[in-house]
Amino acid sequence: MEPITSSLLRAKYLAFFAERGHVEIPAASLVPTHDPSVLFTTAGMHPLVPNLLGEPHPAGRRLANVQKCIRTGDIDEVGDDTHLVSFEMLGNWSLGDYYKDDAIRWSFELLTGDRGLALPLARLGVTCFAGDDHVPIDRESAAIWESLGIATARIQFLGRDGNWWGPAGQTGPCGPDTEIFYWVDPSPPPRQLDVADKRWVEIWNNVFMGYTKAADGEIVALPRVNVDTGMGLERTLVAINGLRSVYDVDTVKPLYDLVRGLASAANEREIRIITDHVRAACFMIADGVAPTGKDRGYVLRRLLRRCIFAAQQLGMAPDWYRRATSCVTAMLGDAYPELRDSDGIAGLIEDEVAKFETTLAHGLRLVAKRPVLDGRTAFDLFQTYGFPFELTRELAERQGKHVDEAEFRAELERHRELSRSAAGGTFASGLADHSAEVVRYHTLTHLLQAALREVLGEHVTQRGSNLTKDRLRFDFSHREKIAREDLARVEGMVNGWLARDLVVERATMREAEARAIGAIGAFGEKYGELVSVYSVVDRGSGEVISREFCGGPHVEALADLRGRLRIVKEEGIAAGIRRIKAVLEQ
Ligand code: SER
Repeated sequence: MEPITSSLLRAKYLAFFAERGHVEIPAASLVPTHDPSVLFTTAGMHPLVPNLLGEPHPAGRRLANVQKCIRTGDIDEVGDDTHLVSFEMLGNWSLGDYYKDDAIRWSFELLTGDRGLALPLARLGVTCFAGDDHVPIDRESAAIWESLGIATARIQFLGRDGNWWGPAGQTGPCGPDTEIFYWVDPSPPPRQLDVADKRWVEIWNNVFMGYTKAADGEIVALPRVNVDTGMGLERTLVAINGLRSVYDVDTVKPLYDLVRGLASAANEREIRIITDHVRAACFMIADGVAPTGKDRGYVLRRLLRRCIFAAQQLGMAPDWYRRATSCVTAMLGDAYPELRDSDGIAGLIEDEVAKFETTLAHGLRLVAKRPVLDGRTAFDLFQTYGFPFELTRELAERQGKHVDEAEFRAELERHRELSRSAAGGTFASGLADHSAEVVRYHTLTHLLQAALREVLGEHVTQRGSNLTKDRLRFDFSHREKIAREDLARVEGMVNGWLARDLVVERATMREAEARAIGAIGAFGEKYGELVSVYSVVDRGSGEVISREFCGGPHVEALADLRGRLRIVKEEGIAAGIRRIKAVLEQ
C-alpha cells in the first residue's frame, strides 16, 4: 500500500471533520498572544481557551485545524522513537455542541473506516478516566468504545496521571479524557492494553472539557461542556505507515537523512537530537523567538546550543545549520510559509554559533579543572556562559563526573526569586520610569502599533518596547523591510490622530470581554480575573483608534503629547522582527 503522506493526512482529517460541520480555523503562532503563564503554544486548544470557557467563537461551535506545537516537558525523552519537541497536532472541537458519543464515534470512524485511515481494530486500545474524589469514573466513554467493538481487555482505566488533561497554563479549562493507543510493533498485539508497554503508542486524545481550574487550584464545573481532541500527526503517520520512528516521517526524515549524511560519527541518539532540536528551533525562530538568557528565548538557546555542541562532536561541516534550515524550508515550507525564509533563520543561528563558540572554550576548561561538579558550578556555567544544564551534565559525565541536578535547580530557583523581586515579577509590564516624558512615549507607542497594523496588516504585534525620556523603541512582528512610503503613511496616520481631539480611556473588565471588544497586546496586566484595557477614542463619534491590554500609565488626552511623531530608524533585529525608533517632535 502507498504510504500516507503528511499532506494527505492533514487533508483527510480536515475533510472528515468538514463533512461533519466543522469549520477549519487558522493555526496560531507558537508564541501565545494572551497567556503569559506558558511560553509556547502546546496544543491546538490553547488559543481557544476563552471559547472553551464560554466566549462565542466567530467560526461557530464545531472547529478543526492543524496546529504546530512545542512541548519541552519530555525533552529528556527526545532521541527515542516517539518524542519530538515540535510536532503538529490535528484537532477538532465542540464548543458546547456535541459530546462524548459523537466525538468517540468520529475518532473511531476516522481511524478505522475504509474512507478514513483504515487502521486495523486489532491494534487499537483506549484508556478512560478512573474517577476520583471530584469527578466520577467515565463509564460512559468506555461503553461507547465497547459498542464500537473495542474489547473490554483493551480498555484501561487510569486516574489523574493518565486520563486527565489540562489546564495548559496555571488555570483554565480541563477535564477527563479518553486516549487512543496503537500497537506499533510488528509482533502480534497482546490481548490486553497496558500503556506501560512502550509499543502501545498514544496517537489521539479526546478531552471532555467540562471543568476549569481556578487560581486557588479548585476544579469547578463549567456551565457548558466541550470536546477538545488532539491527534499527533507524526505518531499517527508512524502507525499508519508501519514506520520505525517519528524520524521516518516525511516531515522529519529528509532532515534526519541530511544530518546523518553530514555526521562523521554514527551516533544515532545525537543525530536524532540534532534533527529534533534544529527543527524545533526553525519553527520558533520563524515565529519571532530569538535566543536570549530567559524564558522563551532561553528555551531556544538551549536547543540551539545543544545541537551546535553535538554537531561539533560529530564532526559536522561548519555550515551544517545552513543546509539544515534549507532542508526544513524544502520539507515544511509549503505547509508553513513562515519557514520559507531559510536565510533569515540560518542568520540567527549563525549569531548563536558565534556566541557559543567563545563561551564553550571557557566552559570546557572549567569543567575539566573541577574534580567534582556541584550544582553551584553548573549554575555558574549556566549563568555566565549560557551552558544549558543538559550540556554541563553531558560534559561532566564524559569525564566520569556527576553533577547535582537538585542543587542546580535550587540555585536556579533562588536566582529567579531574587530577580523576580528585583524586577517586580517576570511578566509585569509597567514602565521603569513614570516621568511625564516617558508616559507620553508610552501612549505614542500604542498609536504607532495601531498605525502599523492599519498599514502593514494585523500580523503586526508587539514583541518588545523600550522607552526613555527622549525616544521610543518598538519591536514588532513583520517579515520584510518596510517601504519608505509605508513608513510615511504610518507617520501621517499617527500625526493625523495627534491633531484630533482624542482621549485615552482606561477600563477593567474580564479578559474574555476585553478580547471580544478587540483588545490586543500580549502583556496583559492582570488583577485576578480582570484585565486592564486602555483605549484611544473619539468621544464624539465613538471611533476606537487603539485598544490594548496594558498596565499603563498613559496620558489622558492626545493633546497632552504636544508634538508630532517622527520615525528615525527602521531595522530588522531578528528573523521576522523589526524595530522602529521614533521621537516626538514639538
Ligand atoms: N489538549 C489535548 C492534548 O493536548 C487534546 O487536544 O492532548
